[in-house]
Amino acid sequence: MNSFSFGTVASLISAPGAVQQLNNICRQLKIQRPFIVTDPGIEKSGLVAQAMYPLSQAGVNCECFTQVIADPPENIILQAVEMAKACAADGIIGLGGGSSLDTAKLVALLANSDERLVDIYGVDNVQGQRLPLIMIPTTAGTGSEVTAVAIVTTGNTTKAGVVSPVLFADVALLDAELTLGLPPATTAMTGIDAMVHAIEAYTSRLKKNPYSDMLALHALKLLSANLLTAFSDGTDIEARQQMLLGACLAGQAFANAPVAAVHALAYPLGGHFHLPHGLSNSLVLPEVLKFNATSAASLYADLADLIVPSKRGEGLDAQAKTARLIDYFIQLIDELALPHRLSKVGIKQSDLPMLAKDAMLQQRLLVNNPRELSEHDALTIYQNSF
Ligand SMILES: NC(=O)c1ccc[n+]([C@@H]2O[C@H](COP(=O)([O-])OP(=O)(O)OC[C@H]3O[C@@H](n4cnc5c(N)ncnc54)[C@H](O)[C@@H]3O)[C@@H](O)[C@H]2O)c1
Ligand SMILES: [Fe+2]
Repeated sequence: MNSFSFGTVASLISAPGAVQQLNNICRQLKIQRPFIVTDPGIEKSGLVAQAMYPLSQAGVNCECFTQVIADPPENIILQAVEMAKACAADGIIGLGGGSSLDTAKLVALLANSDERLVDIYGVDNVQGQRLPLIMIPTTAGTGSEVTAVAIVTTGNTTKAGVVSPVLFADVALLDAELTLGLPPATTAMTGIDAMVHAIEAYTSRLKKNPYSDMLALHALKLLSANLLTAFSDGTDIEARQQMLLGACLAGQAFANAPVAAVHALAYPLGGHFHLPHGLSNSLVLPEVLKFNATSAASLYADLADLIVPSKRGEGLDAQAKTARLIDYFIQLIDELALPHRLSKVGIKQSDLPMLAKDAMLQQRLLVNNPRELSEHDALTIYQNSF
């Protein structure tokens, strides 16, 4: 008997052009003074103006914090909170990739509650209520628009998460028109991140459940069918919308069946070498799959059946299907022109023991891995990925 619980956002809209509904959504949520949280790249690409247009047309004045930086540090979040309070914002709109969305979640909470950020890291430490919250992703990757997590950079190389159902937004809005200008390299990296969410949710050891399985499988199907198209022709609106939906479904899956060793080994790469989150995942993905194969082959075989199906009469066993799945990802990473090896992204062999030691700090994630993983195993995976 698989007992489980499942949570997600209250409402979801998936349609090209859906951002035009923003004023109606604000009205439904009784937001009169919306506050957009985003980063300078999004502003420069014209997406803030695109999101604000329906509001200004309706005569709604919208303030905007545009200073989010990738892997947002505490001081940026606190600055955004101060500005939202100064504007008396009564609703928060996160617009951007995972960094902007995570910042927006915390602004929605901390602009409305007297809690301190340092007191709410960890699971279920949030006491207060947040302002109405709308999430508009502009990357098809993190799935942050439908997760109850906000990740903050707390020191030079360390990250901490605030995990609370209060952070589930009121509305997630998936509009592919906002992702048409996402550069190919970012499309590739964030797309791999989303695929890893689906894989790790499907093999998550403790909280995997029928809902997360269903979501992970459908996510992987959409993502594998559309990533190369979105990468090679960023203007393909159909592929872009399917990628957004795939990333969102994967987000709903891993919000309930958490990610594991790929993410645990990726985080130190981001922390120490400031590699983008999706690239860090992609660098360790093949070797983590190989490591897990002895424990997770039957689950990996399900994924292989979905995205690299065997031909009739081939009679492959689970191990052979797993090998085919791993080959698929090695080839995909190549076709997406992403670096394959740690040695190609400025990491030295002598850095590997420190990375392995740091990966072991991610016990929150490692407990979900289908195979137990020691520091020695982590080092071997990094060495094999070097
Ligand atoms: N909350 C969660 O559940 C969760 C899960 C995984 C990762 N994360 C966090 O998400 C962050 C990574 O997010 P990300 O990978 O989406 O990247 P990001 O938000 O850091 O954005 C990366 C870059 O892409 C640019 N960009 C985004 N959309 C664009 C568009 N449509 N057109 C042009 N440029 C665009 C941004 O300006 C930025 O420079 C990390 O902080 C990570 O820790 C959160
Ligand atoms: Fe991720």
